[in-house]
Amino acid sequence: MANVIVIGAQWGDEGKGKITDLLSRSADVVVRYQGGVNAGHTIVVQDQTFKLHLIPSGILYPDTECIIGCGTVIDPQVLIKELDQLEALNISTRNLLISETAHVTMPYHRLIDQAAEERRGTHKIGTTGRGIGPTYADKSERTGIRILDLMDAKELREQLQWTINYKNVILEKLYNLSPLDPEAVIEQYLEYADRLRPHVVDTSLKINDAIQQRRNILFEGAQGTLLDLDHGTYPYVTSSNPVAGGACVGTGVGPTMIDRVIGVAKAYTTRVGEGPFPTELNGKIGELLCDRGAEFGTTTGRQRRCGWFDAVIGRYAVRINGMDCLAITKLDVLDELEEIKVCVAYEIDGQRSKDFPSNARHFARCRPIYKTLPGWQQSTAQCRSLDDLPRQALDYLKFLAELIEVPIAIVSLGASRDQTIIVEDPIHGPKRALLHTNGMPTSVLSAEA
Ligand code: GDP
Ligand code: IMO
Ligand code: MG
Repeated sequence: MANVIVIGAQWGDEGKGKITDLLSRSADVVVRYQGGVNAGHTIVVQDQTFKLHLIPSGILYPDTECIIGCGTVIDPQVLIKELDQLEALNISTRNLLISETAHVTMPYHRLIDQAAEERRGTHKIGTTGRGIGPTYADKSERTGIRILDLMDAKELREQLQWTINYKNVILEKLYNLSPLDPEAVIEQYLEYADRLRPHVVDTSLKINDAIQQRRNILFEGAQGTLLDLDHGTYPYVTSSNPVAGGACVGTGVGPTMIDRVIGVAKAYTTRVGEGPFPTELNGKIGELLCDRGAEFGTTTGRQRRCGWFDAVIGRYAVRINGMDCLAITKLDVLDELEEIKVCVAYEIDGQRSKDFPSNARHFARCRPIYKTLPGWQQSTAQCRSLDDLPRQALDYLKFLAELIEVPIAIVSLGASRDQTIIVEDPIHGPKRALLHTNGMPTSVLSAEA
């Protein structure tokens, strides 16, 4: 039995969907704990590509229970579309459970998100425009609509009449937008409620029951560590806590129940939206990474900004998440390069630092200090074991593991399930926190090897 959290170690889109899908083979329950339809997780199975926004990546396994936890925000319209798409492909969604206490994204959230972004002008965040920030803002302000409100027609009507009239003042007076018709919104959301009702339960109780029954739980993070509201590059972040700590709050499971944390990072770095990005590449190499990596957002289609691997961020993600091991994805994207740079430290105001600055203004002034490694200039897409990898690729991975002080348990070399090297069992392998005290039960790519 193991309860595992999978988190993004960079700015999102690290390939969490692929890794969660792989690990879901040995999970009984897969749980999303934060975020909403801003997330876009891609899973490729043979010739089919699935793009999921809210439904956990475990859904492709017929016997796996999938749970959308209380820390998420749910846009029912998108969720229902996702359910319909899966059912149309003969993928059963009967095992999907939705938390009663998750908050609901309403049409005014989407409108306000988009209008506020426009108003911010050069200070815009570059949000996905899916209403995520405003939904979480209402949650904090204690004016949000929860799934349990959606399930109670009388309560919903009462709450929405008041809330929509209030939001209409903002839409009209602040943003010059047309007001929403409360009745039309209420009727539409009551329809959504009927569709979602069979899935709605107390998910904390369900997950904790599953833990008692010694079933394997996989907590699937959305976004990434640097987009975390508290630990990311504020204000260029999302409005939830993608870090491992968020998994407990966002599901109603105690921290003592968590056995392990697995990070996912690309072999380089990408970011969508605004905000500082020290290793960003604006020239030809950036374009090459974008082309080879097909770096276009799964949710908005926006081109992702690309740059070299940043080990300062890597080390920070190991610390903030208490990461036990790492999955490195998209190594194949680097195949053609003659040489590859890795940011080993920052220079800030003439000082060298290996630590991520918690002051966002300092972060914006950080300049990368690079180490250059030779590329391998051959395809890795067909490699299925470490022995198949070109020596320079293996050296590159070892270098990353040593720098960020975490063992690499999985290497991904393509979008499909089989394009993967399992270096060591990511779920039952040694815990990083114990490496120093327990001697050296480590893998080829571990920091201790
Ligand atoms: P997520 O949000 O972290 O789940 O990541 P996304 O699905 O948004 O973006 C990752 C993209 O990279 C998807 O299109 C995946 O199919 C693809 N992908 C995942 N792993 C690999 C890999 O090892 N190599 C390549 N070339 N593509 C990958
Ligand atoms: P997955 O789960 C990459 C980014 C947006 C923007 C910032 C705030 O696929 O990794 P928001 O709409 O959340 O208020 O936008 O966060 N962002 C993501 N970037 N992957 C994601 O999800 C993201 N979800 C949000 O681009 O910069
Ligand atoms: Mg994504």
